[in-house]
Amino acid sequence: MSFNDADVNSMDVVSVDSFGSGCYPLGEIVTSRLVDYREVGGDPQLAPGSVSIVEVADPFVSRWPLQDQQRYETLEVAADDLARARRAGGLWQRKPGGAYTEHDGTLTAKTDSQWGDPVASSYWLKELGSDAMAAWMRLIPSARALLHLADPWGDESVVDVDGGTVRVDDAARLGWSMSIDAIGIRSRAAVMADLVARRAVQVGSPGGAGLRWLSVACGTALPAFQAACAAGIAPDMLLIDIDRDALGMAVSLAGSVGFAGRLSTKRTNIFRRSSMDELHRELLVSGGLVKMIDMLGIFEYTGPNLGVDPVGFLQSVWECLAPGGYLVTGQMRADRPRPDFTTGVVQWPYVELRTPDEFMAIIEAAGIDRNRVELHLPEDGVYMIAGITK
Ligand SMILES: C[S@@+](CC[C@H](N)C(=O)[O-])C[C@H]1O[C@@H](n2cnc3c(N)ncnc32)[C@H](O)[C@@H]1O
Repeated sequence: MSFNDADVNSMDVVSVDSFGSGCYPLGEIVTSRLVDYREVGGDPQLAPGSVSIVEVADPFVSRWPLQDQQRYETLEVAADDLARARRAGGLWQRKPGGAYTEHDGTLTAKTDSQWGDPVASSYWLKELGSDAMAAWMRLIPSARALLHLADPWGDESVVDVDGGTVRVDDAARLGWSMSIDAIGIRSRAAVMADLVARRAVQVGSPGGAGLRWLSVACGTALPAFQAACAAGIAPDMLLIDIDRDALGMAVSLAGSVGFAGRLSTKRTNIFRRSSMDELHRELLVSGGLVKMIDMLGIFEYTGPNLGVDPVGFLQSVWECLAPGGYLVTGQMRADRPRPDFTTGVVQWPYVELRTPDEFMAIIEAAGIDRNRVELHLPEDGVYMIAGITK
C-alpha cells in the first residue's frame, strides 16, 4: 500500500509531472577508507560499527580555474579570520535562538539578518562584489537558500525575500561553488546517495517501487531526490517539514530533477513529540512503518541551547522506521574548518556543532546499538554522516 492509498486526510498526495529528466549533478565518491575510530579523535567506548574517511570529487569546484579557486579561498579565510578576531574581542557572539519564527500561526524561516557579524559580512560581500550573493544571504536559513549551493548553475536568478529577482553573476557562482559550507553540503548529499544506492535493494523491492521513504525536515528534498535518482529507484516518498514554501518547492522540483517515485507531503513540527506520535500512528494505518529515512541538515538545530532534546527527537524519528530499515542522518562537526564563516560572515543562525563522540553518545542514549552505525566523514571536514540499520 502506498501513502497515496492511505485514508489520511492530513497528507497531501501530489503527482510528479515529468519523470527521468536527468539526475541533478552530484559529487562522486572517489575513495572510502575504513579507519579506527581513534583516528578521528573518538573514544573506543563509543565507537560505531565502522568509520570511513570519504574523498568526494565535487562537480562544481573543478569548473573554476585554479587561480579563481585560490582567490576565493583566500577571501573566505580572511573573512573567517576577521569574524573570529572580532568575536574574540566581544564584538559579536554566536547567539543561540530559533531560526524560525511563528506568525499567523505559521512557522517560517526568519529572513532578516539577526545573527552574525555585520562587519565581516560587509567585508566579504564588498570584496566579492555580487548583488546576487547579497540577495541570497537574505534567504538564509530557508531551504530555498540551499538550492543555490546544491547547484550554483541551477538558476539564472535569485528570487529574494520580497519576491524580486536578482540576476546570478559569476561572483555568486564562484562563492556557491567554492564555499567550504557548500562543498560540505554537496559532499554529504553525495555520501547519502551512495549509502542509499547500496541499501535500497536490501530494504526494498527491486527498483525501489513501493519502498516507503520518509524525508524528515525535507526542505526542498533535493538530496532525497538526488539519492533516489542516483540509486535508480522510484520510491513512495513522504516529505515532512514545517515550511509550506519548502514543501511546495519540493513538489515542483521533483519531476525536473528526475525523481520518478510517488510523492506525498505533510506539514508538521517534527520537534513536537505529539506531532511525531501522530505521524507514527498515521504510518501504521497507511501501510506500515517506512523502510528508509533521510534526515540531513536538522540535527544541528537540536540541543539544550535550542530547547530541543536531541535524544527524544531521534527516538521519535527512529520509531517511524520499520525493523530492517535504514536511517541516514548527519551532523556538522565541532572541528570543522572556518566555523566563523558560517555563523559570522554568512550569518547562518546558531547551530549546535558536535564531536563524533557527542554525536555517538546521543545515538546510544536514544537506545540505538552503536554497532549498527556506519559513520562517514568526507575529507572536507564539515559534516559527519551516519547510516544506521534498524
Ligand atoms: C537546513 S534545511 C535541510 C533541508 C534538507 N534536509 C537538506 O538537507 O537539504 C532544514 C529544514 O528543516 C526544517 N525545519 C526546521 N525546524 C523544523 C521543525 N520544527 N519541524 C519541521 N521542519 C523543520 C526547515 O523548514 C528546513 O526546511
